[in-house]
Amino acid sequence: MKHIIIAIDGHSSTGKSTFAKAIASVLDYTYLDSGALYRAVTLYALQHGMIGENGIPHAQRIADSLPAISLSFRKDPVSGKNRTWMNGHNVEELIRSLEVSRHVSPVSEISEVRDFVDVQLRKWGEKKGIVMDGRDIGSAVFPNAELKIFMTAPAEIRARRRLEEMTAKGEKASYEEVLANVLERDRLDSGREKHPLVKAPDAVLLDNGNMTVEQQMEWFKKLMKRKWGITLK
Ligand code: DC
Repeated sequence: MKHIIIAIDGHSSTGKSTFAKAIASVLDYTYLDSGALYRAVTLYALQHGMIGENGIPHAQRIADSLPAISLSFRKDPVSGKNRTWMNGHNVEELIRSLEVSRHVSPVSEISEVRDFVDVQLRKWGEKKGIVMDGRDIGSAVFPNAELKIFMTAPAEIRARRRLEEMTAKGEKASYEEVLANVLERDRLDSGREKHPLVKAPDAVLLDNGNMTVEQQMEWFKKLMKRKWGITLK
């Protein structure tokens, strides 16, 4: 199959990264997680005291410090998994912390941060043969992506899935709290001034509320067959 860009966008907790990784593996493409870059910038801002006690980021200070942030993805030689590096350090675990999760939304709203992340993503996209997930990949970062998929599921189902993930990690929360968080994240993602979460008009909708990962892969294989006549194993 010729190398193309596949953009996967959608609501939080819809399983975008699981789906995107599975597609990348079937096609032997590179998986790139755009959210990891917003998380890395947020980690930098936290490490350098650029987020106030009230949780409000110092937008100008963060914007001014962007030239000092160098980001990359590198394959871990042992696990073979892509890891996020910032300024010479593997920050994969740190960017997944609750602290970063709590502050990433307002940081990702800063216009200069979005421009900075977009430049990186587009550079990596030049190579094609990538599956990238996020919120604005098909609508803003790669509007010419050959395949765009927009994922969604009812908020109640996403909250239940998220709660299961958290419980598995030993994190405690009630279903009501998690649901409120899912709804709040939807509001922030869709209400953002610059590059909000929207379904690109040419994106294919995947509502996976009642689908397992295996069923989603079957759906994808059918889509490839229909769109390009390609049969995937
Ligand atoms: O997908 P995630 O939870 O790792 O994303 C982290 C944050 O970054 C989340 O607040 C949404 C934001 N984000 C974004 O604004 N645009 C993207 N393309 C990817 C993520």
